[in-house]
Amino acid sequence: MSDKATLTLDGEQYDLPLVIGSEDEPAIDISSLRARTGYITLDPGYANTGSCQSSITYIDGEKGILRYRGIPIEQFANGPNFIEVVWLLICGHLPTTEEYTDFARDLTLHANLDEGMKSHFDSFPRTAPPMAVLSSMINTLSCFHPELLELEDTEQFRMAAARLISKIRTIAAYAYRHSTGQPYIYPDPHQRYVHNFLHMMFSQPYDQYVCDDLVRDALNLILILHADHEQNCSTSTVRMVASSGANLFTSCSAGVGALWGPLHGGANVAVMNMLEEIHKGNMTPEAYVNLAKDKESGVRLMGFGHRVYKDFDPRAKVLREVAERLFSQPGKKDPLLDIARKLEEIALQDPYFIERKLYPNVDFYSGIILRTIGIPTSMFTVIFAMGRLPGWIAHWWEQRRDANSRISRPRQIYTGNGLTDYVEMPSRKI
Ligand code: ACO
Repeated sequence: MSDKATLTLDGEQYDLPLVIGSEDEPAIDISSLRARTGYITLDPGYANTGSCQSSITYIDGEKGILRYRGIPIEQFANGPNFIEVVWLLICGHLPTTEEYTDFARDLTLHANLDEGMKSHFDSFPRTAPPMAVLSSMINTLSCFHPELLELEDTEQFRMAAARLISKIRTIAAYAYRHSTGQPYIYPDPHQRYVHNFLHMMFSQPYDQYVCDDLVRDALNLILILHADHEQNCSTSTVRMVASSGANLFTSCSAGVGALWGPLHGGANVAVMNMLEEIHKGNMTPEAYVNLAKDKESGVRLMGFGHRVYKDFDPRAKVLREVAERLFSQPGKKDPLLDIARKLEEIALQDPYFIERKLYPNVDFYSGIILRTIGIPTSMFTVIFAMGRLPGWIAHWWEQRRDANSRISRPRQIYTGNGLTDYVEMPSRKI
């Protein structure tokens, strides 16, 4: 491999250093380019731009590899609970028994929201989108925890992280309860993370929610599989906001906004709409796949394809198994799963999808699983945000501690008017 890149511009040659990642991913360091040449690079959507160096998550999209702190995602399929993965991401190693116990205790202690925050929920209309409520209320934590706005050291960071990880599920559950006009259910200190969330979502003051182990494990795994995905749109947003020195709560609130978009966190809702459409009998799976291949139709096979993965999304493989496990239970059947299986079977044998390397992504099965758990479609992206939160927090901290980090401030190529004079209003013509 070369040890530098050479750029020829206007007859001059410039040597640019290479940076090689720990998995041999090569990059050209252009940080001195403008100062030396007067040129910038243009890369809309940043598909060729490394915005930082990061030690949190590794992805090889060509080979279908996803690792958190070096550990392959498949190894989380039957083992840990979400909180171990949270610790792994934000602290860099799997927790010892003592670390886990202390962290779990912190989560229990801080699950409640300040009573003053409840009145904020009440002021939202019932129809408020839960993602808007989530984003607002995470930002509102900045008002109720002024002591956590400036984080001096690792210990303070962990305190803030524990509060946010714990409170997001209370906020998420309250957003749902408010939208359905049901009373808020306080967190139960005797329940673990996922069970406690389901309790706040579905218990009634007179009727305790009974949690099925398979359901709890499925949601636990969904949260783990969404926990980080390196420099995706919402994580890059969090890092960008953090680069200005903004606090953890407001940075993560911005991440929720980025995740809300249908091109990012909203795709599993689109998968459910597609499956429902086929289920209603409006179309067969074969006809839908044909429509998705027709460029004129504007239709895509939702849950298929990925910007980074050009092989199976490893998260989709794990989720397919979870779905199979859930629906192998007596009495559990979902016709949408049969439709999904059929769509997958057809697409994976079709040259259109094979040539373009389009495989099922994480969203293909997650919606079906969430629906079985009883999570309404309006909350799907909120669950994604709960899962992605540890990734955002880990990146926020990495960004803040990076000695080389500067405020994120891309440049542009200006395409507007040349020098233009101001004209007084009476003299203006259209
Ligand atoms: N159905 C049919 N055709 C598709 C699909 C699809 N799902 N995805 C891509 N293609 C085709 C495109 O039409 C294009 O064909 P062409 O080369 O003949 O023009 C080719 O495959 C490449 O597509 P791009 O749009 O360039 O791929 P890109 O990497 O930009 O987009 C994306 C990836 C947005 C995920 C795309 O595959 C898609 O729209 N999929 C459906 C939506 C979806 O499932 N999104 C969730 C992504 S996972 C996540 O965000 C958590």
